[in-house]
Amino acid sequence: MSSIRHPRRTWFGPGTVARLKEEAEFLRARRALFFTDKGVRGAGVAGKALAPLKAAGVDIAIYDDCPAEPAIADLEKAHAQFKGERPDLVVGVGGGSSMDIAKSIAGILANGGAPRDYLGVELLPKPSIPAILVPTTSGTGAEATPNAIFSVPEQGVKLAIVSTYIIPWAAIVDPDLTLTVPQKVTAASGVDALTHCLESFVNPNSHPLSELYSVRGMELIAGALRKVCRDGSDLQARSDMALGSHYGGVCLAGAGAGAIHALAYPLGSRFHIPHGVSNSLMFSHVMKWNFEAAPAKFARISRILGERTEGLGEREAAGLSVGAVERLCRDCGVPTRLSEVGVPAHVIPELAEAAFKTQQRLLGFNPRKLTQEDIEAIYRAAA
Ligand SMILES: NC(=O)c1ccc[n+]([C@@H]2O[C@H](COP(=O)([O-])OP(=O)(O)OC[C@H]3O[C@@H](n4cnc5c(N)ncnc54)[C@H](O)[C@@H]3O)[C@@H](O)[C@H]2O)c1
Ligand SMILES: [Fe+2]
Repeated sequence: MSSIRHPRRTWFGPGTVARLKEEAEFLRARRALFFTDKGVRGAGVAGKALAPLKAAGVDIAIYDDCPAEPAIADLEKAHAQFKGERPDLVVGVGGGSSMDIAKSIAGILANGGAPRDYLGVELLPKPSIPAILVPTTSGTGAEATPNAIFSVPEQGVKLAIVSTYIIPWAAIVDPDLTLTVPQKVTAASGVDALTHCLESFVNPNSHPLSELYSVRGMELIAGALRKVCRDGSDLQARSDMALGSHYGGVCLAGAGAGAIHALAYPLGSRFHIPHGVSNSLMFSHVMKWNFEAAPAKFARISRILGERTEGLGEREAAGLSVGAVERLCRDCGVPTRLSEVGVPAHVIPELAEAAFKTQQRLLGFNPRKLTQEDIEAIYRAAA
């Protein structure tokens, strides 16, 4: 059985941010809440989205206090400010951090209650206020997913609001908006996009509809990530990354992630490591455990990543994908070992416990079942 979910409308291509005007007019929007962050605003990117909204005559409340890697308290702060409002449009312009706050607020304001009520799977009873999400990084694909991710410090992990109703009304994927992303964010968020395509491809929920996006997304990212890390002004490479990242979101919505994300979340929450970096730290080490559980798929990944597999057996060809991912992350300057980011070995048992206890949703998607001891061994291999 196959099923896939999408925003109601998706725009892709340089200059498409101008379509916010038509979208706002289509929705007959009068009052919009606009979520972004100070980095995106300071780079002049938020302004490019505000102009078409203003041209549509929309009254806009701007909230630019979305922090990178938000905690649930950050969502509560945004919610407290707008609790009494009933806007007819919510706009999120930024990376995953701003988009996750925007889509959550759109869902919570339509349903009442508090942010923590909705941490979990399909807990929103009613549709959201229409939301338009405009990614400014090529990474999370959050403009296409039913997820919004928040760290919950008291549990030492990241948890998600997962609801079909927070897939936005429209996604506008305009690669021009990513030209100002700093190199480190380009590299780390690009690795995140690759994990989405790859984890959704190898997990047991994958199906023909999601695989279409997983495979094409990996091809686009494999061809563009090194280029965009070397030269951030390469618009063709930026476009390929933006599309690959969006496809990553679509296949996450269709099939879900896996153990790379499950093991990355405790790192991100406890050590405030950017999401793409914490994925990179786990990426090849989890693949090493997984490749034998789905050798044909991992052999295909090896070929997509440019490995020569002619004349090799399937298992051998599959194994090449591990080194290919490790080299790609390193070439882009994203760390692949815990020691590089100052995570001490003595915390590994706690990380393993947190991943095992709180990430069963994602661990259930992994091609190989992992015990808490297995998870600890993976963290040790990554030390
Ligand atoms: N909802 C989902 O499906 C999903 C999927 C994966 C990750 N996430 C979450 O997304 C968050 C990470 O998002 P991210 O990697 O996109 O980064 P981000 O949103 O945290 O942004 C990182 C930094 O880049 C800056 N930035 C972003 N776009 C810019 C631009 N165009 N020009 C200049 N600076 C820019 C921001 O100001 C910020 O300082 C994490 O919280 C992660 O857990 C969500
Ligand atoms: Fe991710």
